[in-house]
Amino acid sequence: MRKFSLSVVAVFAAFSFAAILHSQEVAQTPPMGWNSWNYFASKVDDKGVRAAADELVSTGMKDAGYIYVNIDDTWQGKRDENGVLHANEKFPDMKALADYVHSKGLKLGIYSGPGEKTCAGYEGSLGHEEQDAKTYAEWGIDYLKYDLCSFRKDTMAAKAPNDQAAQMKLMYDAYVKMGKALKATGRPIVYSLCQYGWDAVWEWAPQVGGNLWRTTGDIQANWNSVYAILSEQEGLESYAGPGHWNDPDMLEVGNGKLNVRENRSHFSMWAILAAPLLAGNDLPNMKPEVKEILTNKDVIAINQDKLGKQGHRVYSEGEVDVWERDLSGGAKAIAVLNAGSDRVSTHPFHLRLAKLGLNGPQKGRDLWTGKDVTLTDNMAIELQSHDILLVKIDNPK
Ligand code: GLA
Repeated sequence: MRKFSLSVVAVFAAFSFAAILHSQEVAQTPPMGWNSWNYFASKVDDKGVRAAADELVSTGMKDAGYIYVNIDDTWQGKRDENGVLHANEKFPDMKALADYVHSKGLKLGIYSGPGEKTCAGYEGSLGHEEQDAKTYAEWGIDYLKYDLCSFRKDTMAAKAPNDQAAQMKLMYDAYVKMGKALKATGRPIVYSLCQYGWDAVWEWAPQVGGNLWRTTGDIQANWNSVYAILSEQEGLESYAGPGHWNDPDMLEVGNGKLNVRENRSHFSMWAILAAPLLAGNDLPNMKPEVKEILTNKDVIAINQDKLGKQGHRVYSEGEVDVWERDLSGGAKAIAVLNAGSDRVSTHPFHLRLAKLGLNGPQKGRDLWTGKDVTLTDNMAIELQSHDILLVKIDNPK
């Protein structure tokens, strides 16, 4: 009996160790790339994915760090008599597509879920986890977003109707299963958990091999959604680090009704949050000001800082929020965000350096104007509605 328990412990320890090792190989900084869903939704196809890959290269986004080209939902076709899943007619040859994406120095991501069906009603991986992971590896897939969706109804609610704890265990096991299956392929594949933050996923996702995990419901291309999601990230900062990241959802920069200031603030705050930077816009028709935001190297450097420490909100005054992020080499990023609907000029906002643990004038750089700036105590900062001041201080005092 003792021998048995020891071997169980050993197997478990080996798996956990392997899971940690696996998750350490990839996503040492928050993954960057592009995902099809936010703009194209079910209109994604082989041609569109190739075009996105081409654009990542020609716009300079690849050089700025955007490497993953991720196909979201609606690529799945039918399983053959052996249970092997094939892509639908929109993707005639997934392996050839992966080869194309790889030939550009980029990586290819794909989407599935633990249920019978994905959120858009396409074939999920239930009962075919190992087989699907193998198929992905054979195609040359480098990233999997694994979305809970119908698993809630067809397995969790069906098997444990009135037992929340049992439902959460079923969910956990489902994510363990795909984590192991990916690991067993021997291919480094980023494992992205998408179950909207249920059951404090940040507490257990790294144990199942997760490299990132959604912390909230779906983002939408409007300010209220971006700001609501941002506010929900408070308190999660201690869970992020190299190889494992909180995911407040993909970027809406350049989409919907977001204006330039809102796009800039959204991007800046995802940098402060050490969030994955997955652009979700129409790359071939990107406006110059959107490209400028997405390729701001200084802001990306904050996001990709190798210390991997997620930032946090330090204080708010009225509708102005002040966030900070500690960076490698003792540097700091400070963001002052006007979340309100008015320009902050009638009741100017005054910066309180002591609240940030800073003492005396701080020399830094405004990462949107590129100009040197000195932050002083009590200085008035005037921002338009939904605009941001993002400053990097190399030697905070
Ligand atoms: C869910 C996810 C989205 C997207 C869709 C696809 O809603 O949260 O990010 O993947 O499914 O159907």
